[in-house]
Parts: sequence; C-alpha cells; structure tokens
Amino acid sequence: MKTQILSALGAGHPWAQTLQYHDCVESTNDLAKHLAAGGAPHGTVIMAGKQTQGRGRLGRTFQSPDNMGIYLSVILRPDCEAAQLMHLTCAVAVAMCDAVEATTGYRPGVKWINDLVAQKRKLGGILTELSLSAGGKVSYAVVGIGINCHQSAGDFPAELADIAVSLDAVTGKRTDRAVLAANMVKELEQLSKILLTEKSSIMEQYRTDCVTLGQEVCVIRADETLPGTAVSLDDEGALTVRYPDGSEAQVSTGEVSVRGLFGYC
Ligand code: BTN
Repeated sequence: MKTQILSALGAGHPWAQTLQYHDCVESTNDLAKHLAAGGAPHGTVIMAGKQTQGRGRLGRTFQSPDNMGIYLSVILRPDCEAAQLMHLTCAVAVAMCDAVEATTGYRPGVKWINDLVAQKRKLGGILTELSLSAGGKVSYAVVGIGINCHQSAGDFPAELADIAVSLDAVTGKRTDRAVLAANMVKELEQLSKILLTEKSSIMEQYRTDCVTLGQEVCVIRADETLPGTAVSLDDEGALTVRYPDGSEAQVSTGEVSVRGLFGYC
C-alpha cells in the first residue's frame, strides 16, 4: 500500500520521505502524538490499514476495520498560538472535501463541525488535537482523518447501520484508496501553507460545504438537548443557534454536538 501511495503522491512531494504506513495500530493520532513529542517534523504523515482503538471527537469510537477505509494522521507545526487555530478542523474538512472530489468526482458535505457526510449519513470524521509549549504557542497539532471507503451497509455495526455510509456506496465505484490517500496528503500540504493567511476564504468554502447551516438542529450537551436553528458560522468555526424563544447563542466545539431534528444530519 505504501508503494502505491508514494507512487500516486510522487516521490518528490515534500512530505513523501517521512510518510509512514502501518498495517495495524491502536490509533494513528496516538502514534502521531507520540512521534511529535519525540520531535517528528511538520508534515509527518502516519497511515494505517486498520486501527484497534480509532477515536473520534467527544471520546467516541471511530470504527476502523482492516483495509476498508483511510485512517490517516498528520503532524503540523504552525508558528502561532492556539487561538489562531480555532478554524483548523473546519479548514481540514474543506481540504478533505477537495481530496474526495479530486479522487471520485463526488463532493461530500460537512456536518458541523468535523463530520464528512454524504446522503445524510456519516462518511468520515476529523479529530484535531493540539499540544502547547510553555509559552502558550502551538508545539504541534495532530490532525486525524478517517474516511469510510469500501463498506457495504451490512459491514457497519448495528449502532451505525442507519447513520454511516461509505464512498463506494455513494459513488457506485470502488474507491482507489492509494489515490485518495495521496490526494489527502497533497491537500493537507497545500492547506498547511495557507492556513493562517487565507482563513476567510477557507471559512467561506466551509460555509458552502456545511450542511448544518440553515437546518433545524438539536444542540446536545452532557445534561440537555435543545432544539433550534443553525443560523450562522463565524470565522473561528463557532455556530450560532436560534432557539424557539428567539434567543441566539454561540455553540463552540468541545462539549457540544449537533444533530438534525429528524436524523443524523
Ligand atoms: C469523529 O468521528 O469524531 C472523528 C473521527 C476521526 C477518526 C480518525 S481515523 C485516523 C485518526 N486516528 C484516530 O484514532 N482518529 C482519527
């Protein structure tokens, strides 16, 4: 697989030399964080054929069966403070929509804040983790992306049967995972160069891709679930929700997720 990815990426790509491929890991994000703590450079990409403890946002599990999807993490070392990276997950979501579209011709949507979606189901997700230095600057960011590629409806566990989908099912064609992985790496490398300088145009594209905006949603916190309408999204990725009493409040990532009123999206 690594040979195919490198051939699709091109040996001259700036991130080709440090790309790692493992048949099986617990979590590519965990391995990337371990390597980053040991000094691995910006642009180190870790991929796996399978994860035994794939993780999602809010402590959820990300099912990562053998050779069914892409499980990829990258170490980024932007020279900035954490507050300048509030849009990072959104920016990666746009880049991953670009990569999927370049590979398959199909552009997924994004369910706020970090889910790639197709046909109102979850196609994949993004997990961003930051480490700060003593001075408050970002030491590194690890961005992990999982995309379901080859699953049929019956391959998903019962709890995901109604909410997950794969690229093959959506496009009706077998996804070339090596080409998709190479396109993801290319998009991530391009993004890393414009992340801090082209925030507004990136976020404008996120608003276009985001299927949550304008929708009736449920805001789910640990202790309550509130219905409302997702009305706008700022350049930091915070969502403004209008509640039935007319009040509006910003919902930021961390403790909250949103769902459609009548289903997953
Ligand atoms: C989510 O669904 O909330 C995000 C899912 C992110 C999954 C990817 S797969 C590669 C990387 N390694 C992990 O353990 N998680 C991310």
